Amino acid sequence: MLYKNLLKPVIFKKDAEEAHDLAIKISSAANYSVLLQALASIIYGGGKNIEKKYWGLKFKNPIGLAAGFDKNGTTPKAMEALGFGFVEIGSITAKPSKGNPKPRAFRLPDDNSLINRMGLNNEGTDVIIDRLKDQNLSIPLGVNIAKTNDASIHGKDAISDYTYSYEKALSVADYITVNISCPNTGEGKTFEDPEALTSLLKNLNPSANEIPTLVKFSVDTEKKVLQKLVDICENYNIAGYVATNTSSSRDDLNTKKSALSAIGNGGLSGAAISRKSDAVISTLYEILQGSKPIIGVGGIDSVESAQRKVDAGANLLQIYTGLVYEGPGLIKKLKNETDFR
Ligand SMILES: Cc1cc2nc3c(=O)[nH]c(=O)nc-3n(C[C@H](O)[C@H](O)[C@H](O)COP(=O)(O)O)c2cc1C
Repeated sequence: MLYKNLLKPVIFKKDAEEAHDLAIKISSAANYSVLLQALASIIYGGGKNIEKKYWGLKFKNPIGLAAGFDKNGTTPKAMEALGFGFVEIGSITAKPSKGNPKPRAFRLPDDNSLINRMGLNNEGTDVIIDRLKDQNLSIPLGVNIAKTNDASIHGKDAISDYTYSYEKALSVADYITVNISCPNTGEGKTFEDPEALTSLLKNLNPSANEIPTLVKFSVDTEKKVLQKLVDICENYNIAGYVATNTSSSRDDLNTKKSALSAIGNGGLSGAAISRKSDAVISTLYEILQGSKPIIGVGGIDSVESAQRKVDAGANLLQIYTGLVYEGPGLIKKLKNETDFR
């Protein structure tokens, strides 16, 4: 109510990235203020606490913040106060990056969706990992890592770049997500190429440590490819999967073609990818037969869409775009009304 009636109309007058920056500013202030955290808890916290245990970690509830909202790790405590059961920060990259030129985030209100080509803007692994050292969180902290957005870093250097962030993240993360599906980098190619993924996982060597390592897939990954990629991941002790990242497709949208071409490239998120993302989760579940936990993400903006992901095989859920359209009240609603597995 507070969000939809009062805040959203004001926020939606701003450009999408400016609105996000404002949300980050307020949340970052709350991250270091016990008073603001208490206030956030009173307004948005509470609801059913459906505790879940995966990878030996206690999740206060199965609703998490998806990667990309808090790229620099300045808000995890504030997100805990809002009622999230876990947070995933990042993607972080070995070298700091300003990302792509602005504008690079766009609302599609007729589709309850967003298009972004942020391009992995973040302050870099060193600064962010240092910041995360004393957060004193009582919910699991996921750190999402990606390759620095710089096309001149490729081949062996690309793998060293990922490995740098991975090894640093081990010191603070409860779990690490390897983002192999970012569509917004100069190269246009991702680590969803089987050969590239094999070299990457061989070098990261998840078996050598006790922190669960997850892999995040694109919503556009075809069934056959997914099977191949999971086979590779299973050879390298991947502990679970995050499904899904954004889409490059523009099919079946209500938004006018002219508006879409004015926006240009970027990853589509929100309601428009919800069912496609459910299908990827179903395929993953079929392949894994419940042997590994799946974090379902992509277009959750209601109890119905959350339930579809759980029914498709997701154990934990994450939200980002739904938060933009529905506000933080969505977290409690999902906790109270979704039937989790
Ligand atoms: C503006 C924006 C930035 C994002 N940045 C990242 C990122 O850095 N790393 C990542 O793994 N996913 C990123 N994502 C993808 C989300 O984590 C999520 O997978 C995707 O948006 C689908 O979920 P949603 O429909 O709930 O937003 C980003 C999404 C948005 C909207």
